[in-house]
Amino acid sequence: MVTIMKYFLCLLLTLSTTISYANGADWRKSDSDEEKLKKIIKVIPSTSDIMFQMGERYKNLYWAAKQGKWEFAEYQLEEMESLLKTLMITRPKRKETARNFLDYGFNGYEDAIENKNWGAFQKTFNNMRQACEHCHELNQHAFIKLQKTPIKGSSPALD
Ligand code: HEC
Repeated sequence: MVTIMKYFLCLLLTLSTTISYANGADWRKSDSDEEKLKKIIKVIPSTSDIMFQMGERYKNLYWAAKQGKWEFAEYQLEEMESLLKTLMITRPKRKETARNFLDYGFNGYEDAIENKNWGAFQKTFNNMRQACEHCHELNQHAFIKLQKTPIKGSSPALD
């Protein structure tokens, strides 16, 4: 009888450790709030995560305007602005230069888009590219240059 009890006890223990191990493996459930916060901070978007998206939107913005998809162009700009605002939070050392860009980097688009003016858009786009590259210089990444006239977009919302 005692041996059977021991056997069951043993089985119960094995089962409960397996279950608690499975739970323990999920840090979202088992970690302290402090540990959770540390992990979350580690995985918030980096500058390169954000910039990779900026690069895609840069191309899509150009091609949206070129194809006369002005609303889509405007949408790209809004998303780019929002990406920079996210960057200001996730990477405090980029905050000041991102703020500067937000103050003047998008100047001129409002008129160009409102008037659906491709010529004015191209001028504004060129100014913005220089502002992008200027920020790269100020952040020790001067070697990251951008296509003056992106060869193609990447969004399936484009033709
Ligand atoms: C706040 C300054 C800042 C602004 C503004 C900025 N960038 Fe960047 N960008 C950076 C930095 C810094 C890097 C290098 C990434 C890193 O530090 O890991 C970078 C990298 C990039 C990359 C390379 C991403 C990769 O990992 O392959 C692209 C593409 C890019 N930026 C596009 C743009 C475009 C387009 C604009 C303007 C619309 C822009 N950036 C505006 C700071 C900026």
